[in-house]
Amino acid sequence: MRIGIIGAGAMAGALGGGWAAAGHEVGIGARSGDAAQTLADKITASAAGVRPGARTTGQADAADSETVASALVRAGGIGATIEWADVVLMAVPVSALAGLLDEHGSALAGKVVIDCTNAFAPDESAPDGTTAFVLSEDAVAERIAAGAPKAHVVKAFNLLAAEVWAGTDRVFDGVRLAVPLCGDDPAAVRTVAALAEDLALQPFPAGGLHRAKYLEATSVFAVGLWFAGADARAMLPPLSAAFAVED
Ligand SMILES: NC(=O)c1ccc[n+]([C@@H]2O[C@H](COP(=O)([O-])OP(=O)(O)OC[C@H]3O[C@@H](n4cnc5c(N)ncnc54)[C@H](OP(=O)(O)O)[C@@H]3O)[C@@H](O)[C@H]2O)c1
Repeated sequence: MRIGIIGAGAMAGALGGGWAAAGHEVGIGARSGDAAQTLADKITASAAGVRPGARTTGQADAADSETVASALVRAGGIGATIEWADVVLMAVPVSALAGLLDEHGSALAGKVVIDCTNAFAPDESAPDGTTAFVLSEDAVAERIAAGAPKAHVVKAFNLLAAEVWAGTDRVFDGVRLAVPLCGDDPAAVRTVAALAEDLALQPFPAGGLHRAKYLEATSVFAVGLWFAGADARAMLPPLSAAFAVED
């Protein structure tokens, strides 16, 4: 699958690195060609260790792609990357989305768009010395869908830090790490579920895109607990104990 990633930062590297290692074609599209190429080279070097033969084509020689048997990573501009991709990951700050959608929203038509963004802003009411966040806006995924009305938007991968996605720890206390997915198009959700499985994660289809706002709120809430030193995982019992009613 051709996965185009918009942005060349931490999330682009974490998810793109994993997908390249799993054998997908990955395109990094950024406003800085140098940044895109640097990340593409880094992903290639890392993926090559997993899949010998991986290499970077750069923008100019995309035609070479058929000759490369294993993972192939390319760098390019944002528009070219979107055009090339089957699936597009938006790995940019929320503040960048309006401009990107104005310019590229129509080019996203028919594509699966993964939204991993979080609209975090400092919680000005937090006591001095503590790190806490609130949402600067909610329903970002729905805003992406409004700006790219023919795209199939799926909210995913926003709950955990890039370092977690980039890592190899996948099972904690005997439970495989899960990725909740919210999207309206069943085929797009299935596609993103398969991409989660390619990262050895457990996909949790979690309803339509109107529910993505809850994932966005869950993220800011959990991160606040983690920064406060609380183990957010401890507030949820296992499924078998989730309801105080016997079946
Ligand atoms: N990092 C995490 O642990 C994490 C976890 C979950 C979700 N997220 C979310 O994932 C998204 C990406 O986070 P990140 O940590 O990968 O960010 P990052 O490391 O800061 O990288 C952001 C990327 O977006 C690009 N960008 C910024 N403004 C842009 C614009 N106006 N147009 C085009 N590209 C622009 C940056 O390019 P320049 O270098 O040119 O500025 C950079 O390549 C954010 O929405 C974040 O909330 C992050």
